[in-house]
Amino acid sequence: IHTTITSLRAWRHTQLLASRTVGFVPTMGALHAGHLSLIRAAATAHPAVCVSIFINPAQFAPHEDLAQYPRTLSTDIAQLEALNASLPEGAGRIEALFLPAVAELYPGGIPLEQDKQRGAFVTVVGLGEQLEGVTRPHFFRGVATVCTKLFNAVQPDAAYFGQKDVQQTVVLKRLVRDLCMPVEIRVCETVREGEDGLAMSSRNVYLGEKRRAVAGGLYRALRAAEGAYMGGATERAVVLGAAEEVLRGVGREEGVEVRIEYVSLTDGEELQELQTLDGRGGAILSGAVRMMPTGEGEAPVRIIDNIIFKAR
Ligand code: PAJ
Repeated sequence: IHTTITSLRAWRHTQLLASRTVGFVPTMGALHAGHLSLIRAAATAHPAVCVSIFINPAQFAPHEDLAQYPRTLSTDIAQLEALNASLPEGAGRIEALFLPAVAELYPGGIPLEQDKQRGAFVTVVGLGEQLEGVTRPHFFRGVATVCTKLFNAVQPDAAYFGQKDVQQTVVLKRLVRDLCMPVEIRVCETVREGEDGLAMSSRNVYLGEKRRAVAGGLYRALRAAEGAYMGGATERAVVLGAAEEVLRGVGREEGVEVRIEYVSLTDGEELQELQTLDGRGGAILSGAVRMMPTGEGEAPVRIIDNIIFKAR
C-alpha cells in the first residue's frame, strides 16, 4: 500500500527494472464486481497490477455527494486480497494499491471552477460539455485532471476503464492521444447485477428496495432501442422513440417517479448527436435517469447506462 507518489514511483521503478509491464485500474473505492472485472482484465495482460482508490474531490460539484460517497476501505482491501488469491496461475497480481490523501494529489488545492486558484488542470475541450457534462459541467475536467495525475504517478503501460462510464472512456482516449501520454486506454464491458441488467454502481446502495425493483428500466429501454436499430431502423426518432416509450412506463405502477435526464444517440469519437444510423456500428446509445425519493431519508439517485451499437 502506497500513500505517497515517491513510494509508488520506487515500486514502479522496480517493475521496470524487472521488465514487468504494469496495468492500472483507477477507482474511487466501494469496490464491486464491475471494478473487479477491470482488475481481472489487467491481471490477464500484465504481470503487475496497480489499483488506486481515491475519491477525487475535483469531480464533485459542491451540491453533489462527495461527503456521502461510500467509503469502505477495509472491505475494499479484503476484496482485493481475495481477488489476488483467486487469480489463475500465470496471471499477474495486484502488487500495488495507491491510496493518496487529497493533499498528495492536489498540493496546490483543488481546482474547482469557482476557485481563483493558480495551477494546472486538464480540460478535454468538446467532449465533456454534452451528455453527463450538462448536469455535471465540472465533472470531466476533474476526471481528466486526476487521471493525468494518476497516470504520471503510476506510469502504467495500460489503464483499464469500464464501458459503464462511456463518455469518460471517450474523454480519456482523447486525453492520452492529444497529450502524447504513453498509456493505452482499455475499455471493459459493463458488469450488470440481477436479471434486470442494472449496471453495477457504487451508488446503487442508495436505491433501497422499492427503487431497486424498477431500476433495471433504463437498461430495458436502451435494449428496446437497440432492438429497433438491429431490426433495421435508421432514423434517430425511431430508435430513441423506442427507448423513451419504455422509459415513460418505468416505475409508474410501483409509485416510483423516474425523471429522464437524457437519452442520446451519438457517434463514438466526437460524441455528436446522430440523426441517422448507417448500420456500420460504433454509435453510442446512452441515457441517464433520476430516481426520485420514495420515502423519508432517501435522496434522488442518478442511474446512467449505455449500449454501443454493433454493425448490423
Ligand atoms: P469509479 O466510479 O470508482 O469507477 C472506477 C472504474 O470502474 C471506472 O472505469 C468505471 O467505468 C468502472 N466501472 C464502474 N461500474 C462498472 C460496471 N458496472 N461494469 C464495469 N466497469 C465499471 O470512474 C471513476 O471511479 C472515476 O471517475 C475515476 C476514473 C477513478 C477518476 O476519479
